[in-house]
Parts: sequence; C-alpha cells; structure tokens
Amino acid sequence: MTHQSMDHTAAALVAPGKGILAADESTPTMAKRLSAIGLESTEPRRREYRELLFTTVGLSEYVSGVILFDETIRQRTTDGRPFADVLSSAGLIPGIKVDAGTKPLAAFPDEVVTDGLDGLRDRFEEYAELGARFAKWRAVLRIGEGRPTPTCIEANAHALARYAALAQEVGLTPVVEPEVLMDGSHTVERCAEVTTEVLRAVYDQLARHRVRLEATLLKPNMVLPGSDCPEQADDERIALMTVEVLRRAVPAAVPGIVFLSGGQSDEQATTRLDAINRHVPQPWELSFSFGRALQAPVLRAWAGEEANRSAAQAALLHRAGLNSAARYGSYRP
Ligand code: 13P
Repeated sequence: MTHQSMDHTAAALVAPGKGILAADESTPTMAKRLSAIGLESTEPRRREYRELLFTTVGLSEYVSGVILFDETIRQRTTDGRPFADVLSSAGLIPGIKVDAGTKPLAAFPDEVVTDGLDGLRDRFEEYAELGARFAKWRAVLRIGEGRPTPTCIEANAHALARYAALAQEVGLTPVVEPEVLMDGSHTVERCAEVTTEVLRAVYDQLARHRVRLEATLLKPNMVLPGSDCPEQADDERIALMTVEVLRRAVPAAVPGIVFLSGGQSDEQATTRLDAINRHVPQPWELSFSFGRALQAPVLRAWAGEEANRSAAQAALLHRAGLNSAARYGSYRP
C-alpha cells in the first residue's frame, strides 16, 4: 500500500461539504442507545438498524465515510451483501473502530487508558481484507482536580501513536481521537488548557513513532465549558477558542480535523461546527465525525418499526445536510 492511497483516503474523508458518520458504537453502547427508545439490543435488531443507516439513498452527498464496529463490518444486508461493500458501492468509505475501550489506569484513580494494542497488527490485516480503508482509536481524558495527570496524557498519547503507526503499516488511514470529556464543572479556559496539552503530547508521540501526518485525521473535542460549569459560553466564543487551541497544537500537514459531538445536542454540534467554519482560512479542513449528533434524530424517528424506515432515513439525510452546510459556515437554523 502506498502513501498516496492513505493520503488520498484522508483527503477524501474531508472532501468539501462532507464529513464522517460514526456508527461504531460497541455492543454495550448500542444497548444504551436502543434502550433509550425502549428496545432490547439483539444482534438482528442492531443489524437492521445499521442496514437502515447504510442504505440511505443520497447519503454520499454529505457523508464521506462511515466508522463501523467489529460486529458490524462482519454483517450483511437482508439480501446478503456485506455492509462494507454496500457502503463502497454507494460512494462511502468504510472505516473501523479498532480500540478495545478504556480501562482504569493502574495507580491513577479516576483516570483511564485505552486498551487494544495486543494483536492489533493481525486484526488490522483482517479489517483491511474485510474492506476497511480507515480506522479509529479513541483516548479519553477527564478533567478534574489535578487531572488529567501528565502520566495519563502520556500513556494515552503513546497508545494513539502505536495504533496510528500500525494502521499505516497496513495502508489504513488512522483517525486519531483524543477526547477531553465535557463532564464536570470546569471552565472553558480549563478545557482549552487541557486540550492544548493533550494535543501537543499526541503530536509529539506521532512524530516519535514516525506517523505520516498527511495520512491521518484528528478527531478532537470542541473546546467547551464543563456541562456542570455555571458559566456557559456562546457559540462564537467556543468557535474562537477551539480554533485558537487547534492552531497552536495541530501541524499544518494534517489534512483535516473532524470533531466528535461528545454529548452535545445535535443542534449545538451543528451550530458550533458552523461557527468554527466562519474562521477561515485554516490550514486544515474542519469537519464532523458525529455519532450521537447524527443518529439521535434517526433513532427517535425509527423507534424499531419497519414502517418508520423511510422517515428515519429522511431524518439522517436532513441532519447530515445541515452539518454539510456547517462545513461552509452557511448553516441557518
Ligand atoms: P459522538 O459524536 O457521539 O461523541 O461519537 C463520536 C465517536 O465516534 C466517539 O468515539
């Protein structure tokens, strides 16, 4: 696999007006999402729901790629076509979440490190055969009294770099996701400080591990006040601070930055992406890799009923279209 094809995948994922649909919820997370609409999570139901998402006609106008979970990349449509093939034929690039979730960081209370490096080289080879062209690994940092510690930041940045190097070895484009959670009562300034520190550590480790930045994407949090912070911030301040942090910490060789939604409402995620995209030009494309902010209205519209299938697909297209407009800073509610 050449550098060219990995660079090309990275650029194609942040093509003008397009972003990523994160549909890589693990089985326990999917159980939570389904339970919120009163449904039990079974394999056939998860398959049916993912089929609904991936067969939405016209999705490739707004969405460049879709992140799958291990179970999903092995599933097929009702008429027997592997999901990865269905996506590729529709002009959507299939991706795969390869981390194994977070585990407590020994000796560091309330801090976590992401698992999944063991055996990753072999898993990557299999995922490439199954049709994945890009990958995702999520690190999680929590803000609190004296947290995140430098050790937690370093351990997570190191794992992200090990993952990214392995992805590129097999020709997959790594999406590097260090998420600073918005849980807590910290201020927006504190989020900016922590996000800057985390991103600097990540890019230091990526350089040490000889990761080719042109063939990566960054998936960060927006710079937000903690969800329990008494002083919230308006969209313009969030946009300004997010862009300032990114300019200070993310090399210009990175082709694109795709934000996670991280528990913001779908509306908030879109208006903030829009506000961010009014600060142009920037060295990188500024796009989305939303999970909840794209899927929440779809799950509500579907509610597990086959009869609601087209309404649910219309909800997905609608939301994706609004985020596409936000890519140009031209979203109007
Ligand atoms: P959210 O947009 O729901 O945060 O999900 C994105 C994601 O992939 C988290 O890893």
